[in-house]
Amino acid sequence: MSPKARSYFAVAAAVVVLATVTALLFTRPLRASRGARLAATPQLSPVERGEYLVRAVACQDCHTPLIMGPNGPQPDPARMLAGHPENFVDPYTVQLPETPGFWMWAPTNTAFYGVWGKSYAINLTPDENTGIGVWSEDIFVKALRTGQHWGTSRPILPPMPWQWISQMTDEDLKAMYAYLRTIPPVHNRVPEAEPIG
Ligand code: HEC
Repeated sequence: MSPKARSYFAVAAAVVVLATVTALLFTRPLRASRGARLAATPQLSPVERGEYLVRAVACQDCHTPLIMGPNGPQPDPARMLAGHPENFVDPYTVQLPETPGFWMWAPTNTAFYGVWGKSYAINLTPDENTGIGVWSEDIFVKALRTGQHWGTSRPILPPMPWQWISQMTDEDLKAMYAYLRTIPPVHNRVPEAEPIG
């Protein structure tokens, strides 16, 4: 190789290295967050849009039980969106609070006790017997739209934030339903709510 060819080669190699480093730096934040990657995709299928919404609206916060990890409570990866664990042993004797407006919740963040009684985040996985496997899209949308259990019966209890979720479009509610049909079914029979009054 002549000295001139060598210096061309060196410049070309430097450009390639620089371009690679730049590309890596710029794509890093996107790779770091699945939510950001989904949001950045212009054309989402209903299932992808539903995944993005379920993550961003934080359904996991109450519908996925927390377990203790090395850095404190973390969502249990084996029970994603599976609701209040059926084998949960309450470490405290739950006394419904007497102070009006006072409420408390289990360390899993899936069971809630207050003036409304006891409520348990339901199993949102498509398990046929214990999840929403038998729910039609219509029931799902109606429940979230009206705040009535199954869209027709008793009021949905706190702290399920249906008042805010009900403001989503039909398309978005249906997208969340479509996504929830695709997640792994988890067999977990959540206790029945115990409304007061
Ligand atoms: C702050 C906690 C919390 C968050 C956040 C939350 N939920 Fe819930 N959810 C609950 C609780 C508690 C119940 C049980 C209420 C009851 O039994 O009356 C419930 C019940 C439900 C039900 C059953 C409704 C019925 O017909 O009985 C559905 C469906 C549901 N949630 C979907 C969702 C979706 C989808 C999201 C996110 C967009 C979400 N939830 C976010 C706590 C929460």
